[in-house]
Amino acid sequence: MQAALLGGAALSGGAALSAVGMNQRRPPMSPLPQTADLSGLAPPSAALNSQSLALGRLFPSLLDPDATGGPFIANTLSSKDSFAGYIRQGEPGNSVFLRQADARATIPWAPIFVRENNHLLQLPSSVTRQIDCSDLLVMNESSARYPVFGNKARKYEFLLPNLKWSGSKRLGTVGAVSSNHALQFALANRVADLTGDGQPLNCALDLVLFEVPGAATDMARLAILRGLVQHVAIAKNDVELVGEAAQEYARNWLHPDTDLLVPPGGSNEVSVLGHMNAIAELAQFLDAAQAWSAPPDVIFVAMGSGSTVLGLLLGVHLMGWKTKVVGVADQDKSYLTRWLVNRQPSLPFVEGNVAKLARSTVEWLQKIRFPGISPDVLRVMQHEIFVPDSTSWEPGYGLVEGTDVAWANELKEAGLSLDPVFTLKAWRSLLTMSQAGALKNKKVLFWNTYNSFDYMPPLLSSLG
Ligand SMILES: Cc1ncc(COP(=O)(O)O)c(C=O)c1O
Repeated sequence: MQAALLGGAALSGGAALSAVGMNQRRPPMSPLPQTADLSGLAPPSAALNSQSLALGRLFPSLLDPDATGGPFIANTLSSKDSFAGYIRQGEPGNSVFLRQADARATIPWAPIFVRENNHLLQLPSSVTRQIDCSDLLVMNESSARYPVFGNKARKYEFLLPNLKWSGSKRLGTVGAVSSNHALQFALANRVADLTGDGQPLNCALDLVLFEVPGAATDMARLAILRGLVQHVAIAKNDVELVGEAAQEYARNWLHPDTDLLVPPGGSNEVSVLGHMNAIAELAQFLDAAQAWSAPPDVIFVAMGSGSTVLGLLLGVHLMGWKTKVVGVADQDKSYLTRWLVNRQPSLPFVEGNVAKLARSTVEWLQKIRFPGISPDVLRVMQHEIFVPDSTSWEPGYGLVEGTDVAWANELKEAGLSLDPVFTLKAWRSLLTMSQAGALKNKKVLFWNTYNSFDYMPPLLSSLG
């Protein structure tokens, strides 16, 4: 089967390659290492089985198998439902499943990380007194115990069971060598139980990773990746390569039987549901903590391939909140690349990715009659909710300055670990807005998407 690529987002990390790389063909497959014991890296089944989809509180029909109209979201850990007998509609990993041709759409969902009540973090006054707002909270999606966590885990809760129900056996995915998606996807593929009886996706997986210009490749991380997947191809980064050309290049490294090239960052229409659900969870956490009597006025979040910020925007829309969501881009690209990938040269590259994913996602949600999506949702998101920031990432992808490092250290002391590519840039955006007086008297929520789990010791020892 020819490899298909979902979504049109270009590779994160300024993906590009050398002419030499273009001519190389992938070597034969080596067998998946058998020595790895990764069982200790998944949360206990009992903790996962007790999780439920927060969106179901908002729209009970989503979880009601007997409701009519709109989609049904099947928890694959608790329901005895399996994909046998369903008709699949859509690309692998981006499908809905129908009992018969005109039936309601079923979407599989598997809880793969544990929601605890400690996701909301109150920063100490030594930090908050430096921010000119009425209140500041952090949605801290980070775990010291579990490697699959943060914004990736939320996407994979929809993406992985969808791939399983689609019958995928061989996959490829792409990203920068430092890609959080590449590492977490490789792990989730091996450890995330999708059936309730311990069966992960376990697809044969090839990674095509792009070196980041000016940054040394982390060899220990690479060793871990090599222990988790079938094959890792490293591409040089001399010539900017995006869109179709990047897909063609990545295909060059894939086994001919590859079912799918999983999109960069794991972003597609289905994975957007992960952060729509995240907003419904945030509402529950805020209620439980009796933190605020009204929703946040502003949310800050990092954006790259787009499904995280888009899910939050749609979630805010579903909740009927008046919240502004500031999406902070991790990079930008030339006019030519913006045009080639998004056909919108005047729109900063990452905003273009988000706009494109927004159009296809809204079309898909309307087609499956997802509840709460108003006909003018694209306009509402664009004009009333979304505040893109495509400048705070400068001077470069993952490049930070002395003041950022000082902030990172101070925040780490306070229990919030940020990364230089995404979340530290989002923090920078928050500071800039605060300094401009734009957050005065506002309730501000900083969404930390970065899982600061220390992968090296446990994974290197598990992989032997
Ligand atoms: C830590 C972190 N935050 C934010 C993002 C951006 O999320 P998205 O790619 O869904 O826009 C990424 C993406 O790779 C990430 O690794």
